[in-house]
Amino acid sequence: MTPRLELRHLVRRFGGHTAVDDVSLSLLPGQVTCLLGPSGCGKSTTLRIVAGVDQQDSGQVRVDGALVCDATAFVPPEKREIGLMFQDFALFPHLNVWRNVAFGLKGRRAACRAKAQALLERVGLAGYADKMPHQLSGGEQQRVALARAIAPAPKIMLLDEPFSGLDDRLRDEVRDATLSVLREEGTAVLMVTHDPGEAMKMADEIALMRDGRIVQTGTPYTIYNTPVDRMAAGFFSDINVIPSVVDGALAKTPFGTFLVPGHATGTQVDIVIRPQHLKIEFYRDGHGPLESDAMGMAAPATVRRARFLGHQSLVDFDVAGGQVLTASVSSVFLPQPGTQFYLMAPRKHCKVFAR
Ligand SMILES: Nc1ncnc2c1ncn2[C@@H]1O[C@H](COP(=O)(O)OP(=O)(O)OP(=O)(O)O)[C@@H](O)[C@H]1O
Ligand SMILES: [Mg+2]
Repeated sequence: MTPRLELRHLVRRFGGHTAVDDVSLSLLPGQVTCLLGPSGCGKSTTLRIVAGVDQQDSGQVRVDGALVCDATAFVPPEKREIGLMFQDFALFPHLNVWRNVAFGLKGRRAACRAKAQALLERVGLAGYADKMPHQLSGGEQQRVALARAIAPAPKIMLLDEPFSGLDDRLRDEVRDATLSVLREEGTAVLMVTHDPGEAMKMADEIALMRDGRIVQTGTPYTIYNTPVDRMAAGFFSDINVIPSVVDGALAKTPFGTFLVPGHATGTQVDIVIRPQHLKIEFYRDGHGPLESDAMGMAAPATVRRARFLGHQSLVDFDVAGGQVLTASVSSVFLPQPGTQFYLMAPRKHCKVFAR
């Protein structure tokens, strides 16, 4: 199947700084891809190139297989059939809400108004058609801008943090409504966010970006469970990092020995595990640390501090060697500081990365 949108080796430099560094991506019709990464990593610049409001230094963009821009060709933004909703969206101040939404629509006035009204209902603004933009809150204006972007049923929708101004509940509602409209139309969606939770909720595929480059692409499940490096792991949740040095395919830690095939002797490694993957076992005097290949490491651990967070408790443990590890456990459980347990790290959840 021909990709709806294809980015090939895009590069964009500002002075000596490479803001977008060899970015390639491919989206099928109806696919939602999130560009996820920290501030300044080049997400918006990538979107601006696809939209045609900025130009790359090299590389190309294709829509349905047809070249849209490269070193010589340049299809202007209005001819690309690409919808936009950027961070700095603005409504037309002199047009009322429904005329803003209907701005890109062709056809009879009554039909345009009906379409605008239907979209306003989808984004929770049924009664707002005749208001003026200055009479709306920031979040309401944002939803009007979303409806306006969706209205012409573009082939591709570019969304740059489109839900950032909304409170949590409204954000979920508007996001679901927006996505269902876009999916119904078979629109490919390239969405920028720096919020991993939002990317996991929305995306068929996440492209993790850092310093202008895409460091990993995959489904939310893959990217969360098999991160390519320590930073990729740490982008999605807090992580515990246990440093070690490889000696003959083994890495000794204060709480057990790890098999680390594929790393040469002398390599400094970080063994990474997420707080929710650490298991707590009751401590029984007289038993040494439990250790097996299947279970991974286990170590006696003493509660340093426990915090109740409502949906879970976060417990910091002191383990041998001065290391502090954090486990997230059910919030019915709030152990007292000083209590001793075994901390177990199931091997399948431990990731080993060369430093
Ligand atoms: N017009 C420009 N001139 C010079 N530098 C720019 C320009 N636009 C972007 N940059 C730089 O390029 C880099 C990437 O910027 P970009 O806006 O793409 O980041 P971002 O990932 O969208 O960040 P954020 O999450 O903060 O919006 C930044 O270092 C930025 O300062
Ligand atoms: Mg940005």
